[in-house]
Amino acid sequence: MAEVVIVENAAAAGALVADEIARLIAADPATVLGLATGSTPLPVYEALRSRLDGVDVSQVRGFALDEYVGIDPSHPESYRSVITREVVEPLGLDPSRIRVPDGRTEGIEHAGADYEAAIAAAGGVALQILGIGTDGHIGFNEPGSSFASSTRVKTLTEQTREDNARFFPSIDEVPMHCITQGLGTILRAKHLVLLAFGAGKAEAVAGAVEGPVTASLPGSAIQLHPHATVVVDEAAAAGLRYADYYRYTFANKPSWQGL
Ligand code: F6R
Repeated sequence: MAEVVIVENAAAAGALVADEIARLIAADPATVLGLATGSTPLPVYEALRSRLDGVDVSQVRGFALDEYVGIDPSHPESYRSVITREVVEPLGLDPSRIRVPDGRTEGIEHAGADYEAAIAAAGGVALQILGIGTDGHIGFNEPGSSFASSTRVKTLTEQTREDNARFFPSIDEVPMHCITQGLGTILRAKHLVLLAFGAGKAEAVAGAVEGPVTASLPGSAIQLHPHATVVVDEAAAAGLRYADYYRYTFANKPSWQGL
């Protein structure tokens, strides 16, 4: 089962995860990070700025989870643009070492296989940052996604398009399709760190952590991973049956264990 860490707020979660990422980069300057987009990981990227200040990050590599299909990479809401704006530029990473799935329709039929090959060639992802959708998706693996899936094109649910409409002038402009790392791809990362904040995520978090392992709630795939950490605020933890036990466990966590 995942280790659940209940923190006071998103900033505390960001600090905790950024400490772990900084530790990984100190130990291996060519660390491979799995990068999520959306609102949830922003406190991690924010907290990383001060931790990586003065650190040589020229070798760090990164793979984004997903991209919209048919969106121009220069569109401000393409995940290529978001990763450049929120991660690559502020942290001073080498843009040529940070990959985002190619969502252009030309060549889309081999974009998934190309991405899988690139992750494998990099030696796999050391730490994968994840958010979770209100419908339980991780990456853009919507309900029904196979636990064995690899990077491929998916159709976004209406719920996800509504949730993401806040980034676009209207819901009609939210792309219908995406290319996303599969659940199988995500499960191959060495360490999964799923973050969630706010009451709107409570049901999905409870299902992912304590519910049955089911393709109907793709986030529940984390239960199959040997090293998964879930970092949530109190509101997102509200549906967790064993919340007190998680608090007790974390309070008594041996300092040598790391995140
Ligand atoms: C983003 C991604 C999605 C988001 C999820 C939550 O790369 O893969 O799974 O993590 O939709 O989005 P936010 O964080 O905006 O609530």
